[in-house]
Amino acid sequence: MARLVIVSNRVASPKERAAKAGGLAVALREALGRQGGLWFGWSGETEVNPPTEPKIFRSGRVTYALQTLDPEEQHAHYAGYANGTLWPLCHYRLGALSYRRTDWEGYRRVNDTFARSLMPLLKPDDVVWVHDYHFIPLASALRELGFKGLIGYFHHIPWPTPDVFLTLPSHAALVEDLSQYDLVGLQTENDVRALLTYISSEARGWIAPGGVVGLKERRFRVAAYPIGIDTEAFVKDAKAAVTGEEMERLHSSLAGRTLAVGVDRLDYSKGLPNKFNAFGELLKSRPEHRSKVTMMQVAPVSRGEVAEYRALRRELEELAGAINGEYAEFDWVPLRYLNRPLARPTLAAIYRSSRIGLVTPLRDGMNLVAKEYVAAQNPKNPGVLVLSRFAGAANELSGALMVNPYDIEGMADMLDLALAMPLEERQERWRANMAVVEANTIHKWCDTFLDDLAHTVDRLGELPEHSRAAARQ
Ligand code: G6P
Repeated sequence: MARLVIVSNRVASPKERAAKAGGLAVALREALGRQGGLWFGWSGETEVNPPTEPKIFRSGRVTYALQTLDPEEQHAHYAGYANGTLWPLCHYRLGALSYRRTDWEGYRRVNDTFARSLMPLLKPDDVVWVHDYHFIPLASALRELGFKGLIGYFHHIPWPTPDVFLTLPSHAALVEDLSQYDLVGLQTENDVRALLTYISSEARGWIAPGGVVGLKERRFRVAAYPIGIDTEAFVKDAKAAVTGEEMERLHSSLAGRTLAVGVDRLDYSKGLPNKFNAFGELLKSRPEHRSKVTMMQVAPVSRGEVAEYRALRRELEELAGAINGEYAEFDWVPLRYLNRPLARPTLAAIYRSSRIGLVTPLRDGMNLVAKEYVAAQNPKNPGVLVLSRFAGAANELSGALMVNPYDIEGMADMLDLALAMPLEERQERWRANMAVVEANTIHKWCDTFLDDLAHTVDRLGELPEHSRAAARQ
């Protein structure tokens, strides 16, 4: 069997206990842990004149290779183009988008650096699987260096519609970079439609059935692979949490009150101010809930080097202070707001104790917290998932109460509905959601993508000329 080589900017260290909510690195650790292989990424460190070779170490079945970067290049790559340009673009936040040629050049240079550092470690029949928007040009850079094997790419965040994508000055080069992969995976069919429409209408490519794409000399495939979680492990953690010391602490601190929980990285795509405002609106317009419901928001700080994230942190501190100042009683704080990440077993305990899971992004590729919340519930007395229609997970979790996060009063109505929902309806909705979370696990996602990647070249080769001709019409 060919060796699997995973590339991602973040690499979850084997010892890391505090998992950032949801998150790519955690998902990949679960995927790679099973079959072993090489995990290549950024070391998290910068240094002037960094070594050209990565640090290599082994843990269990996984070999880690971590590359250190020059500080200026890393800044242009990570804070500049990846998180100052691509992240807001893909999340439809054009107001937050900044574009500088130096960032674009730095982004490409870092991709070249990564390719040069990875290339000597690759064997010809390795299967390389690249993850997320930090590394779109990596396949081009590896091909330049002579790698001819299979390379797949998975985009964990949304792919924007053509009108939005066209605001990116480097749009054409970026999609040409994508065409150097054999298989491009996106989270939802909507994302696939958006990319294929751009390719056929703007890039003069052709599309054939099954998402086969021709762009200039390249042929590749684009398809949707909705990511899942390690459901079994999460259910186990949640069950174990019932008797744990943390569960006891949580319950005694709540003193019989109902809990609503939100867990998100502190990111402007997550709709956190909207969520806080909706909770404030609930307390304002329905005073019967005061002193009865506590909301907990876990929001680990993220990307502090980007100005928008610092501004968001200040905004949330102000909002949380205002809500608590207005409604707190001497024995009740309405909103518990934490900026620390929590370990998975603690999160599982909190999810299981929460009557409501509140996931309200303005735009999200998938949102694994929504799936974790479902997996952690007690089947006999499950909580209600309140979910933004703009999360990729909304396509799958039809048992959730769907909300539009821009509609604060509408969200307050849904919170009220969730708080009053009878047991039978909660169970019915939960069963529908859990069936999906059990069927689409992280392992299935991983196997399906890799299986399709292994067969992509056959499919591309078999494509009859007449279907290509038809696709050109
Ligand atoms: C999202 C992205 C990941 C990223 C993670 C954490 O899940 O899709 O690629 O690693 O956020 O963000 P950070 O900037 O801290 O790596």
